[in-house]
Amino acid sequence: MKTPIYDFVTRYAESGASRMHMPGHKGIGEIERFDITEVFGADSLYEANGIIRESEKYAGELFGADTFYSAEGSSLSIRAMMYLVSLFSKTNGRPCKVLAARNVHKSFVYAVGLLDIDVEWLLPNENESYLSSSLDGAFVERALLAMDEPPLAVYVTSPDYLGRTLPIADIAEVCHRYGTLLLVDNAHGAYLKFLNPSRHPIDLGADICCDSAHKTLPVLTGGAYLHISRAAPAYLSENAKRALALFGSTSPSYLILASLDRANAYIAGGYRERLAEFSAKVDRLKSEILNNGYALFGDEPLKLTLLTKKYGYLGYELAERLMLDGIVCEFCDPDHLVLMLTPENTDEDISKLKRVLLSIERREEIATMPPKTIMPMRKVSVREALLSACVSVSPRDAAGRVLASVTVGCPPAVPIIISGEVIDDDCISAFEYYGIDEVNVIC
Ligand SMILES: Cc1ncc(COP(=O)(O)O)c(C=O)c1O
Repeated sequence: MKTPIYDFVTRYAESGASRMHMPGHKGIGEIERFDITEVFGADSLYEANGIIRESEKYAGELFGADTFYSAEGSSLSIRAMMYLVSLFSKTNGRPCKVLAARNVHKSFVYAVGLLDIDVEWLLPNENESYLSSSLDGAFVERALLAMDEPPLAVYVTSPDYLGRTLPIADIAEVCHRYGTLLLVDNAHGAYLKFLNPSRHPIDLGADICCDSAHKTLPVLTGGAYLHISRAAPAYLSENAKRALALFGSTSPSYLILASLDRANAYIAGGYRERLAEFSAKVDRLKSEILNNGYALFGDEPLKLTLLTKKYGYLGYELAERLMLDGIVCEFCDPDHLVLMLTPENTDEDISKLKRVLLSIERREEIATMPPKTIMPMRKVSVREALLSACVSVSPRDAAGRVLASVTVGCPPAVPIIISGEVIDDDCISAFEYYGIDEVNVIC
């Protein structure tokens, strides 16, 4: 597969051109020499009709979708996705209401705040972490039936931060029966497309999704996709560039665009086989860990999420233990340790991880439970809360006040409560449990 953006920046770097244009580094330096701006022939991301459009077409062929690049992560794709939904509601005269599973990433909260979109929340079941919910088609259908009229869109995160994927085909079938679009935050699942069979949301019936290419494919941080299903209303694809441009920088990084471009050739050149082989190795690793008494969570093939308390440790403790051997995790909290693996990890990485995990002595299970699902009272809209003057206070001093900006640990950047909601005792206990010591409340 051709790599028009990468080829262009490489040729330009080697051309010896006198750069009388941005950026200010003038190509001096090992990284900088590949970093260009929209010089003649380089195309322009939001008005693409040259090498960028060609490269996006290749990506679209690989993903079987109308695919658009983001050089600002899935965060940008999510803002664009929500703007598209908002535009779509205006063209067909339906209220812009979205039913969203509560474990959203904060970029969704920012998007609905900026666009003033009306959100109704789908809560997880009682004993589920605020990071993960087990909803399925029947769950979504009950929620749709409880509403006065079906919303314009349902929004879910799959895979979630803990590695649980949702039955997207099932949820899509329900949504489409009610004339509702299905939007999926697939930031963690770009690679799902290349499993056999594909487990990518677009193949399973989602109308729009975002993928952070940089999270699971060999792409520089910031490289992401906005995919629109070819079965979705054409209006969405027709307006995708406009939606991305509304929120994106006018100086997208060509390093990131070239990296997305190269990923196309990488994927076309035997990635499926490498992924199949690597997934089998991770499956074997998971079985060995389970046999040693560890408990795992989730079904995402390349994520390894340990329920650490069952092995007698807090997530933080196990993370520190792994660090002693130079193994750095993606995320930990009191209950979980999340490791993200890709075929770029070496056999040595995998055997070291196994060796270290199996060398850790099992202790008595820690019985404390994480806080229960919180659903505080809403006082003002997300938009009003995000745009209000605010002050930072300790969780104890926040009782009864309204949350302004979302309070998150980063990662995972999933809000414990949402802007505009009233902080009650359950929220305060949850903040304390997750070690949050400052909360922004409306003045
Ligand atoms: C579930 C989820 N959605 C969206 C995002 C935002 O992705 P990006 O960092 O590519 O902007 C993240 C980032 O961690 C995430 O975990």
